[in-house]
Amino acid sequence: MKKILIIQDINEKGKQLLTNHSDYEFEVIDDVNNPELKNKIVDCDGASLRTGKLPGEIINLGKKLKIISRHGVGYDNIDLETCKKNGIEIAITATANAVAVAEHVMFMLLNISKRKNMYDDCVKNGNFTDRNKLPKTQEIWGKNILIAGFGRIGQSLIKRCLGFEMNVFVYDPFVSSKKIESLGGKKVEGFKDSVKIMDALSLHIPLNDETKNMINYDLLKTMKKNCIIINAARGGIINENDLDKALNDNLIFGAGLDVFETEPPKNDNPLLKNDKVFLSPHTAAFTEECMIRMAKETTQNIIDFFENKLDKSKIVKL
Ligand SMILES: NC(=O)c1ccc[n+]([C@@H]2O[C@H](COP(=O)([O-])OP(=O)(O)OC[C@H]3O[C@@H](n4cnc5c(N)ncnc54)[C@H](O)[C@@H]3O)[C@@H](O)[C@H]2O)c1
Repeated sequence: MKKILIIQDINEKGKQLLTNHSDYEFEVIDDVNNPELKNKIVDCDGASLRTGKLPGEIINLGKKLKIISRHGVGYDNIDLETCKKNGIEIAITATANAVAVAEHVMFMLLNISKRKNMYDDCVKNGNFTDRNKLPKTQEIWGKNILIAGFGRIGQSLIKRCLGFEMNVFVYDPFVSSKKIESLGGKKVEGFKDSVKIMDALSLHIPLNDETKNMINYDLLKTMKKNCIIINAARGGIINENDLDKALNDNLIFGAGLDVFETEPPKNDNPLLKNDKVFLSPHTAAFTEECMIRMAKETTQNIIDFFENKLDKSKIVKL
């Protein structure tokens, strides 16, 4: 009997896959900060993990641990070196969340360009007749959008942008122009040069040394004043203080952030008080449908791993 530890609870339908299987038993621990985690990880064979940070000293306690299955696709919350050293595989729910995140990007893009809060407040506060005095909104039709990172989410987003008849440019040095063109986009080579002509920029790249602070004040200064930036990838790719300053200096139109350098953001984060930014608490993938898909995929990945049939595309190369 294999013991599976579900770190941070998941949808029932995911747990059901383990219940239905006679070879597995599982336990749920609510949080990575629960001190009980140190005891519970000791004899488990596999673990499912949401977004909580799993440091090396905890992973080292899992002497039988063979697989950590992320409920999601990012894995920057796991100490990869320790996993590599201990021969622990990391799996991701690769097919579960691209659509939910891509829809969230469109939701943010349209909310910001149509100044949703302004209109909503206007009617609810009894100021309907002010409608002619309010600042104008902007269309996304015919506008240039740059999708940075053309993996699962970027490729899902392009279809939605084309549905709104946007001109889609793609920055991803690791994807061929043939592939990008086949999906209706235009490949750009230089990120800094291409952002200058964009009306929107959406980030779908990993956070690493190369991408940290990629969006900073110097770059924001070169962008169009009507540009909207969306980050539903990872906090830290945009320098938050620089973004706040750029919005206050009217260098760009607005920004939508689902992710933050520190989560939750600290109380003194200036973006929390900035009206030009639209925020969500790392919930781009939190649709009912997606939570079910991720829960099922995270446990199925564990079962597939132990049955030696886990698809290679779902295993992180360490
Ligand atoms: N907000 C959320 O809830 C949420 C949910 C899922 C994923 N994410 C994040 O979204 C991002 C994208 O996820 P995905 O599933 O599409 O990943 P993916 O691995 O399928 O795609 C990432 C793409 O980025 C490209 N890339 C890597 N480095 C780059 C660079 N320096 N410049 C340009 N392109 C680069 C890669 O070639 C790849 O095509 C990740 O950061 C992930 O953690 C966030």
